[in-house]
Amino acid sequence: MTDTGTSRYRILGKLGEGGMAVVHMAEDSVLHRCVAVKTLRRETRDATVLQRFHLEATTVSRLGHSNIVQVHDMGERADGEFLVMEFLDRGSIGKIVSSNGGHLDAVCAACVALQASDGLSAAHDAGVVHRDVKPDNLLISRQGVVKVADFGIARLQNDVHRTEPGVAIGSPHYMAPEQAEGQESSPKTDVFALAGVLHFMICGRPPFEAENVMGLLYRITSHDAPELRARARECPRVLSELVRAMHQRDPDRRPSMSEVSERLRSWLAEHGILQPAEHLRSTLGFPQTATLSGNTTTAAVHIEAPLRWWPPERALTSIATLALKFLQKREAKASR
Ligand SMILES: Nc1ncnc2c1ncn2[C@@H]1O[C@H](COP(=O)(O)OP(=O)(O)OP(=O)(O)O)[C@@H](O)[C@H]1O
Ligand SMILES: [Mg+2]
Repeated sequence: MTDTGTSRYRILGKLGEGGMAVVHMAEDSVLHRCVAVKTLRRETRDATVLQRFHLEATTVSRLGHSNIVQVHDMGERADGEFLVMEFLDRGSIGKIVSSNGGHLDAVCAACVALQASDGLSAAHDAGVVHRDVKPDNLLISRQGVVKVADFGIARLQNDVHRTEPGVAIGSPHYMAPEQAEGQESSPKTDVFALAGVLHFMICGRPPFEAENVMGLLYRITSHDAPELRARARECPRVLSELVRAMHQRDPDRRPSMSEVSERLRSWLAEHGILQPAEHLRSTLGFPQTATLSGNTTTAAVHIEAPLRWWPPERALTSIATLALKFLQKREAKASR
């Protein structure tokens, strides 16, 4: 890839790659700022699916919420649709956790989760469910501000898989049971996933693990999430209880995202933390990084492959197909 199809965005390097897209860091030659350009793969060419994706991306973008990644521009070029986003120079929470020794302390984890829950709660109020909350979709700036990325992408993935079995998928470690069973997602689906992200940040591993996708879906649909304090003794009880509530298998028994925000905010306030971004910035010790100035590129970022829990997704068949087979088997067993 040499440019984005419009001469405006000059590609500087690859930031990462997921199931549906490749993300590059680029220079916006008009506004002289760094941006992230996400090019969706060819499989997304279904017009209705793309229309829905645009709708969700623009809906959340219009919110202009400080904890949601801003989409600046969208377009189409020879090898697919692309969107131009604000560039978050410290990358994903997945990478931050890995570069921080494999986990974060409970207070830092709560600072990340609170900011994510504020963004998600605003999206829920606007009628949009994320459906793919995971450490790689939470990005952070050098000021410690956490932003939720990829609204609309999960829906896009689901719809593409429905029409094209066998195309790439993301890792389903944070999927809620209702999603794994192919039922409708709701705002509570994001609450379950955020519980998994909190679990991952504090323990250094996701709540559900298995040898393969089938095993993972089975665990998610048939087991309760492990207690956070059983894996991380040092985790404060209040936080562990909140995570347990968020991880309830019945969506109706989970708190709403705004309740999650409230509980995290008051727990952090009890610890004297009123500015979660500032706490993260100072605790994680982000160095000052230069940004683009004029035509000179001096942005200091890690341009590398993202932390992945799953081998390249192209080797996997679609979740929808696997889940269906799995459910059919289970039903067949039950009726025997
Ligand atoms: N706006 C951005 N600013 C900085 N880095 C970004 C931005 N968007 C994405 N990235 C980086 O690119 C990586 C790949 O993103 P991408 O969304 O394609 O994959 P993913 O989130 O790992 O998987 P999925 O396909 O499920 O979304 C991210 O993990 C992150 O490190
Ligand atoms: Mg993503």
